[in-house]
This record gives sequence, structure tokens and C-alpha cells, in this order.
Amino acid sequence: MRIDVVTLFPEMFEGPMGESMMYKARDRGLLDLRVHQLRDYTTDKHRTADDIPYGGGGGMILKPDVVVRAVESVLEGAPPDTPVLLTTPQGRVFSHPIAIELAQHERVVILCGHYEGIDDRVRELVVTDEISIGDYVLTGGELPAMVIIDAVVRQIPGVLGAEGAVDKESHADGVLEGPHYTRPVVFGGLEVPAVLQAGNHAGIERWRHEQGLRKTWRNRPDLLLTAQLSESDKYLLAKFADEDAARHE
Ligand code: ADE
Repeated sequence: MRIDVVTLFPEMFEGPMGESMMYKARDRGLLDLRVHQLRDYTTDKHRTADDIPYGGGGGMILKPDVVVRAVESVLEGAPPDTPVLLTTPQGRVFSHPIAIELAQHERVVILCGHYEGIDDRVRELVVTDEISIGDYVLTGGELPAMVIIDAVVRQIPGVLGAEGAVDKESHADGVLEGPHYTRPVVFGGLEVPAVLQAGNHAGIERWRHEQGLRKTWRNRPDLLLTAQLSESDKYLLAKFADEDAARHE
């Protein structure tokens, strides 16, 4: 998969995109990440990429001619359905299903928003999707772009290898993952749950699923509204509710 990023701060990508799984994905030829300096697409001698806003107000606005030139240039040779994402707090909120969908594409372009914003004609002319990584405002779209790249690239077959199974992880079926343990068997006065020590595979799977469901109930009850729940899951949720009620009596 090839991902092109257009940004005023290409150096920000060097550390995070050059380590660990992102390094491995690039080293194995599974990710071709190209980070482009937006200023390279300016035409004046000062390399001006932004300008003051029409109608007044603070902040600077990225210029439409520069941004559209950059995006059209990096899109050369890309399939016509290539997503062009704009990272912005005004976008739809990024999620696991969006990561899976993006990972199906051969090419993805990410345009990093910055300063007060970007001339809205860019959105109309070249952006296919506006993405936010959450309901808070960052100083720029670079960290969101890296978050999106990480979540997408780990979905590419061969990237995680033996390190992880993407179908069992949190959010894969709308329920969070349960807890994990390693040696020693007792730490800080707490023992690894007996079911994990016993090594009965079916028992372990059932326990893990129940723990994940319990964590979802505690930390992210909103996910249960859309999760795929079996009859036994519904029974367990009723049990958690009873336990909570008993605790508050
Ligand atoms: N730029 C600034 N804040 C952002 C956010 N929450 N998501 C995506 N892009 C952003």
C-alpha cells in the first residue's frame, strides 16, 4: 500500500513512522510512505503556503492553489477511487471500521490541516473525506495523520505477523479485549487468574470473552448499543447489572 502525506512539517513523521511496526511494514515493502513538503508546491520566492482569512478573524488559511497543486501532483497515477483525507476537528470521527475500509485501498492520500484551517474550496475540489481523531483540538493534523496511518497499516496482511491477531483485538467485534498476564504468577500480592494457569483452551476463551464484556460494560457502555451480542452475552450483561446494583445497595 502507498500512502502520500502532504504537510508543512514532514520531519514530524520521521521518528514515529521509522520505528517498530511502521518500520517493519516499510522494510518488508508492505508500506510505501511518502511525505511531501507542501511548500514545495508554492510558486513565489518566499514559498508562501498560507494567507489571511477573508472576512477577518485570527489565524492564517492554507492557500487553495498551493494545496490543490500538491494533491493533484501526488495523485498522479493513482486509481480514481483513491481516498484523499483531510485531518480536521470538523471531520467524522475515525474508527476501527474506517481503518479497515482504508486498508483495502492500494493508495491513500492524507492532507494535514494546519493553522486556523484550509481554504474550503480545497475540500470541495479534491478532498473525499474529512477525518477527526476525536473531540479535542490539536495544533495540527500531523499527529492525527500518523494515528490514521498506524491504525490502517496494521490491518495490512503480513504487517503484524505473529505479533497479533487483528480479529480478536479490541473493537474488532464491538467489544473490548480482556486483561493479559505474564510471569511471575504472583505479583504485588495478586495472582494470575487460575483459569489461565490451568490451560483449558475453551475455558480460557470463554473467560477472556467475559472479561472483555465486563471491561466494555464498565469503560465503554456506549459500544454495547451496536456490538454483536449473543444470548449468553446478554445474560452476562444482566449479571453485571445485578452485581452493580447489589454493590450500590
Ligand atoms: N486537527 C486538529 N485537531 C484535530 C483532530 N482532533 N482530529 C483531526 N485533525 C485535527
